[in-house]
Amino acid sequence: MGSPTELTTWQKLAEHKQEMAAVSMKSLFEADPSRAEKYTTQAAGWTLDYAKNRANEKTISLLTDLAKEAGLESAIKGMFSGAHINNTEDRSVLHIALRASQAQESLMVDGVNVLAEVRATLKQMEQFVAQLHSGEWKGYSGKTITDVVSIGIGGSYLGPKVVAEALTPYKKDNIKVHFVANIDGSDITGKLKQLNPETTVFVISSKTFGTLETLSNANAARDWFLSNGGTQENVSKHFAAVSSNVKKAVDFGMAKENIFPMWDWVGGRYSLWSAIGLPVAIAVGMDNFYALLDGAHQMDEHFRTAPFEENLPVIMGALGVWYINFHNAQTHALIPYDHYLRAMPAHIQQLDMESNGKANLLNGDGVETDTGPIIWGGAGTNGQHAYHQLLHQGTRLVPVDFIAPLASHNPIGEHHTQLFANCLSQSQALMVGKTLEQAEQELRDAGATAEQVAKIAPHKVIKGNRPSNTLLTDKMTPATVGALIALYEHRTFVQGTIWGINSFDQWGVELGKVLGTDIYNRLVSDSDNSALDASTQALINAFKKAQS
Ligand code: F6P
Repeated sequence: MGSPTELTTWQKLAEHKQEMAAVSMKSLFEADPSRAEKYTTQAAGWTLDYAKNRANEKTISLLTDLAKEAGLESAIKGMFSGAHINNTEDRSVLHIALRASQAQESLMVDGVNVLAEVRATLKQMEQFVAQLHSGEWKGYSGKTITDVVSIGIGGSYLGPKVVAEALTPYKKDNIKVHFVANIDGSDITGKLKQLNPETTVFVISSKTFGTLETLSNANAARDWFLSNGGTQENVSKHFAAVSSNVKKAVDFGMAKENIFPMWDWVGGRYSLWSAIGLPVAIAVGMDNFYALLDGAHQMDEHFRTAPFEENLPVIMGALGVWYINFHNAQTHALIPYDHYLRAMPAHIQQLDMESNGKANLLNGDGVETDTGPIIWGGAGTNGQHAYHQLLHQGTRLVPVDFIAPLASHNPIGEHHTQLFANCLSQSQALMVGKTLEQAEQELRDAGATAEQVAKIAPHKVIKGNRPSNTLLTDKMTPATVGALIALYEHRTFVQGTIWGINSFDQWGVELGKVLGTDIYNRLVSDSDNSALDASTQALINAFKKAQS
């Protein structure tokens, strides 16, 4: 496929943008009493209200047509059948296989039934988790394990960490799970201070087993273990790995039965459903991990089979394209009104920005449109007292997804009602805004003089007409959290397909890794740096001076 700008529907959307320029969301609600009902759709325990968008029936129809014209139907079929849709790495993209229904017996990819491998790994995880939870797994001195430290980075860290946190109410209290990612020594040092080597197991999560940060932290953990009573023979009782590089894990000291496989058809940022999710399974138990997978599978089935007009990932993805490419939106905010989901924007940021931060079409040509937006966000209501000012009155258009459960795990006092009220008030305020007349009247009612009204009122104007989606669920459970993350995975795929890019490689991160090794070598040697730019030379010198 070439540039999406060549698609007929793209041109129609450009014209439609002009038609919609003077149409406010408020007027769309006034003109159609059934708007809320019409622009609400459900799947896998989630209700999407997308009525507060700059969209009418023609917009949605054009956006779904765009998805069709861009080949989304066949792209979805390709993904679910194991076609090599990751064309630059010649790989299938099968995170959906990791959560396939037990009723499905096979999914043959390049002559291999990947479902058999997935299920064997789930069984291996079941045993590992059961041994830890029952206390059968003992440390080298015969003590029961109380702490598990997951060491990984990127996709081998953020998804499991965010999901484990989202499922806090489901945590088993006999084992604490910790996460270490950063190569900044403060991360692992802080964690190790709280731990006893006799009762701690480390899970080293790295698809490649070659990632600098993870290996440095794994080595630091092993050094700590060895210098605090452990021996090399006992490393296998305290270290497990999730990796496709079994040899490197064995060389590290892991027992083969404690190495969980990974496959090249799972991208790092899509891998929490594989054994990379082991820390989640340890934290909340295997039954809840299966429920998480099942929730994601429900969303997969919806994505695969629902008409585009009712399809949550398609609608959300296409609306994103509408704002990014036709309204020049540069960013997209995710604001969960759920404390346990507060880190979710960071996972979706990684998922989306590593997937769709691309400037080349599948055929290698440069793109002619903007692609992935900057994804950001944080917990409501906290953000209301921080960055929401810019959402309401700033010069930039920032489409927002509000995410909220109807019931809280901690229903104390009026907290949840207040939380929910705040969530709804934000999407409402973004849409309705405040006119100059309203601002003036408000000031007069408060007893302001005419002079004060004239001076202050313009600063109180909020233009409104700012779009948002609201995603509601009954309660945050393993199943609804699974479905939510799968929804965003597919939303990313929808956008990548419309833009004609490959959402599943990440070549852009490689240059920094290569240069990082080169700079490291320069920091620890007397190399001649005169060929480097003057800024980098000066920064290297500053570091060396501080070490001497
Ligand atoms: O540097 C990016 C990346 O390759 C991610 O895509 C990946 O999730 C992360 O590094 C960690 O990689 P690994 O699991 O191989 O350690």
